[in-house]
Amino acid sequence: MSERELPRILVFDSGVGGLSVAARVHEQLPTASIVYLADNAAFPYGALSESVVVERCCRLISKALEQYPCDAIVVACNTASTVALPNLRAITDVPVVGVVPAVKPAATQTKNRRIGILATPATVRRPYLDELIREFAPDCQVERVGHPGLVQWAEDLARGVPVPQCNLDGAVRKLRDAGVDTVVLGCTHYPLLLTSLKQSLPEVKFWVDSGDAIARRVVWLLAQAGKPIEAREPSRVLGTPVAEALFTGKAPAGIASYMAGLGLQPKLVTGNWPETL
Ligand code: DGL
Repeated sequence: MSERELPRILVFDSGVGGLSVAARVHEQLPTASIVYLADNAAFPYGALSESVVVERCCRLISKALEQYPCDAIVVACNTASTVALPNLRAITDVPVVGVVPAVKPAATQTKNRRIGILATPATVRRPYLDELIREFAPDCQVERVGHPGLVQWAEDLARGVPVPQCNLDGAVRKLRDAGVDTVVLGCTHYPLLLTSLKQSLPEVKFWVDSGDAIARRVVWLLAQAGKPIEAREPSRVLGTPVAEALFTGKAPAGIASYMAGLGLQPKLVTGNWPETL
């Protein structure tokens, strides 16, 4: 089977956070080829207006699809998913899967009914999150933290810079004080910080992110479309799981080896993409 006959999936984020989702997609679909697109020239999306986020997502994803026709698009960014999905679905027939903070599974797991939500400053403010809490966790005490440092520390970690543990302790103090037993990782960058987060909040029992649910949804969509999704000899049919990692800004130093550590060895890494629009 040729590489293009296998499913190809575009995974999009503002930076390296979507790699946490791409890793789950690769686990569940080892023969799929992934194209990773990071709009790191505009990072962080949490600091941009909604209209700018929508415009950039639509423009860049359309451009990537011209170069790499795909069978599914994963918007692996909570900040973008809360505003850009309807516009994206209006410009392409390719199925689009978005991420939402995993409030529902958190509410089913918590034992003490105290949940922490870690997200970007933009996501914690969005009415969408209020609705999720009202619908799925009305009987829970919910503490939200939208600290701007966390996404940057995840980006730095991908370049080999250790997480500043004391700063992280301070950033999540509100959750420690509230005694939450469950934390929602409401930004795709945060699973990349999990080891350090566990050190800051050792009493938390359940860490919930959306990666596996997104991957299951992608598998379902591809199966519906009759795509070959069974795991067969991935190493023979596919040299590397990521066909290309595209960065709209400079590609982060050492990104290929960081991705390899997540099981996402890229065949090509391209910075300052696209050259023209
Ligand atoms: N990974 C993005 C998210 O899930 C990061 C957002 C940002 O760039 O601010 O929200």
